[in-house]
Amino acid sequence: MSVQILDAVPDAALSLLDWYDAHARVLPWRAPPDAQSSGALPPDPYGVWLSEIMLQQTTVAAVIPYYERFLSRWPTVRHLAEAPLDDVLHAWAGLGYYARARNLHACAQTLVREHGGRFPETEAELLKLPGIGAYTAAAIASIAFGQRAVVVDGNVERVVSRLFAVEEALPAAKPRLRDLADRLTPSLRPGDYAQAMMDLGATVCTPRSPSCGACPLAQGCAARASGTPERWPLKAPKAEKPTRHGLVFWLEAEGHVLLRRRPPRGLLGGLPEIPSSEWTGTPVGGGWHLMDQAPIEVDWQLLPGGVRHTFTHFHLELTIARGLLPRRINPVEGFWHPVEAIETAGLPTVMAKAARHALTPRLV
Ligand code: ADE
Repeated sequence: MSVQILDAVPDAALSLLDWYDAHARVLPWRAPPDAQSSGALPPDPYGVWLSEIMLQQTTVAAVIPYYERFLSRWPTVRHLAEAPLDDVLHAWAGLGYYARARNLHACAQTLVREHGGRFPETEAELLKLPGIGAYTAAAIASIAFGQRAVVVDGNVERVVSRLFAVEEALPAAKPRLRDLADRLTPSLRPGDYAQAMMDLGATVCTPRSPSCGACPLAQGCAARASGTPERWPLKAPKAEKPTRHGLVFWLEAEGHVLLRRRPPRGLLGGLPEIPSSEWTGTPVGGGWHLMDQAPIEVDWQLLPGGVRHTFTHFHLELTIARGLLPRRINPVEGFWHPVEAIETAGLPTVMAKAARHALTPRLV
């Protein structure tokens, strides 16, 4: 059961909604504030869902062009469900966390198969769909369907931990922060309230230097009263991410580069890549010891420098070996792609970085 203060709208929620009316960010997936009373159309659940999936671990600025491309290419759930998965993965290239794209496609197919292409309207039903967890279910229920739901993301955790100066550190503090967020959540304008919290966290109650002077909740904020609001949320120290190392084999022939597809399961599953060695915990140390994993024996040259990329659980440092063949032989594994159109290959970001490095003109 949700804990609501005597069904009254808490003062903080009212102040926040007033602030949102004046300061809401204009974003392509949003209805204007207070759409209901101004007679504007409610937001399309498909657009809300798509944006919420894209916005996980990704900034608004990075998401906007992807969101617009997806919507014009696949304007409805049905269009997306009928698209080949490869096309969806390709269009997702560069956004990262590709499991989101696979789940997006699986979810669209489930919606068509089991729900007539429409979204169910309750959090409980939404939660059963592929790729929809507690956050996304609550966001869709409130933003698209006007239901009261407790939407908790990193922004909300920060705002709430500061309002109440919660001394418990994340991640252990999560249940407590959710409970506090629940107490603040009104039944009035739930979608606007959820997005107001997100906007407040993104533009005012920011991690490093919050603008308390511009905050509609400043009066009742315990962190602000302390004089050091940036101290919250408290965080337990994180384990250091390990660094792995690998060698990428950039093989060119007749203006083409050899690419291959990664195995369907696991990290970057099913995406195209430049052939690479295994990614090991030992530094490359010149890289030569990984050379026996090259796709072919040619006169490989190791390029100076390399690229670094951070995944959820590890950093990756890649050295690039460049090789040249006079002709495109039939590869044992993989396919040839025109070098000048490398950006159309749908490479994930780490491999796009490696390609850029391989193609940087340098004196050899
Ligand atoms: N981050 C996650 N969801 C968002 C939304 N609907 N608006 C702005 N930022 C967000």
